[in-house]
Amino acid sequence: MADDTVRGEAAAGVQTESRNGGADGENQSLSKRQRKKLLKQQKWEEERELRKERRKEKKQQRREQRQNQTEEEGGEAQSFRKRPRREVTPSSVRLVMDCSFDDLMLLKDVRKLHKQIQRCYAENRRALHPVQFYLTSIGGQLKQSMDEKDKGWVNWKDIHIKTEHYKDVVEKEELVYLTSDSPNVLEELDQKKAYVIGGLVDHNHHKGITFERAKELGIEHAQLPLSSFVKMNSRKVLAVNHVFEIILAFLEKGSWRDAFFTVLPRRKGAVAVTQGGEYTLKEDEENSDSDSDRDTPEQTA
Ligand SMILES: C[S@@+](CC[C@H](N)C(=O)[O-])C[C@H]1O[C@@H](n2cnc3c(N)ncnc32)[C@H](O)[C@@H]1O
Repeated sequence: MADDTVRGEAAAGVQTESRNGGADGENQSLSKRQRKKLLKQQKWEEERELRKERRKEKKQQRREQRQNQTEEEGGEAQSFRKRPRREVTPSSVRLVMDCSFDDLMLLKDVRKLHKQIQRCYAENRRALHPVQFYLTSIGGQLKQSMDEKDKGWVNWKDIHIKTEHYKDVVEKEELVYLTSDSPNVLEELDQKKAYVIGGLVDHNHHKGITFERAKELGIEHAQLPLSSFVKMNSRKVLAVNHVFEIILAFLEKGSWRDAFFTVLPRRKGAVAVTQGGEYTLKEDEENSDSDSDRDTPEQTA
């Protein structure tokens, strides 16, 4: 840029000199300055090739630098790929999503349930100990939403999708309905049991409905041991995917406290109950309620 300016001035100087050719003797000092400019321009022209060479060298250096960097990163990526995958051991625990409440929900809540189910499916696929996942009573608005919004569901792997009711899929004695209204508290997970989660987004409009259904059918029921490990600001009714993820986390960590604190969103205001005192749930972006597409909404009224 600066060089160009110099060149421009020099050229202008030449023009002035020829225009004023006859009057050279009148202004000696001006001619001297113009000569200086001319010399400068000549020098610039002479060094053109040199500058070209230097630019080429720099370009080559940059190219080599980039190549070295790519090779280094490539090496790292390769060693990352070579790292052994976590050993996945499927659990024999069955988790059944009871989707028989379809006609009790508005379409917008069915859509939320659909997203929660998608989340459960994805979490199970990447779990260390994936459960045997069942969707039962599939039909109505939920099926319509699946067909419209996520046609890929027909290719889902490691999942049993049934139109039948869960009582026609699993032996009655093996069923345990998970419901926050049960007086029984779940302590362990029995590998031979099938735990049922109510596929419902109802903002607690149908309070106690799953507890009633379990009693009607005469099947076992239990609530998660939330109150033994966490104090909650709000009620103990969790969203479908949180219950699902807590079970997956418990299978991995072997501790309810760890499972709750890995999964529960901060918004629930959970505080761990410890012998020495209490500590609050740490911020966890992954499980935050901020993204309603991925998450879900607590179900408190
Ligand atoms: C949004 S809740 C549905 C609430 C509904 N009013 C009911 O009566 O179950 C979704 C499901 O998650 C499960 N769930 C939620 N909180 C739970 C808890 N604290 N313990 C056990 N299961 C729970 C239940 O299966 C429940 O049906």
